[in-house]
Amino acid sequence: MPKRAHFITGILASLCIAAFFLSTILTELFGSHAAVAQLKSLIVTPGLWIMVPLMAAAGGSGMFLAKSRKGRLVDAKKKRMPFIAANGLLVLVPCAIVLNRWAAAGSFDTTFYLVQAIELIAGATNLTLMGLNARDGLRMTGRLRNSPPTAAKAP
Ligand code: HEM
Repeated sequence: MPKRAHFITGILASLCIAAFFLSTILTELFGSHAAVAQLKSLIVTPGLWIMVPLMAAAGGSGMFLAKSRKGRLVDAKKKRMPFIAANGLLVLVPCAIVLNRWAAAGSFDTTFYLVQAIELIAGATNLTLMGLNARDGLRMTGRLRNSPPTAAKAP
């Protein structure tokens, strides 16, 4: 059961970040200011209320599962988690909140786009780290092969 919960929360948390990231890029590029403001509001409510518990559940269930596992892959996953959590709580959440406030007030100035850029960089970083955690997890459970098959040696 914890393994299933970890799989589901890990994948959903990653999809959540991916959805925020892609929708942000698309609305910034092609949407009106009203569309950007609407998206910023949705990312805060209900977005953050879904993403933060999912992330905590993925990390918590992962730490629980790690009690009975040893090795390089589990160590790498453990090391990445503090960066994912700090990046999420100290960068992504505050950025989402201030961007929502500024967008609601129609304040799309240089500071807005600077913070937007920081949010996108932090989002891409977390997507990468979570993707690596998902890859290593799938390798640990045998759903993903460890490395590509080696080419047959020439005689
Ligand atoms: C948000 C970050 C994380 C994501 C996206 C993630 C994703 C995954 C996925 C997709 C699996 C495969 C599950 C399956 O095939 O049933 C897995 C397995 C696993 N994960 Fe994570 N994980 C994350 C964080 C962590 C953390 C922080 C730890 C703690 C070290 C951890 C420990 C494990 C362990 C031990 C397994 C293997 C379970 C088993 O074989 O019984 N994960 N993870």
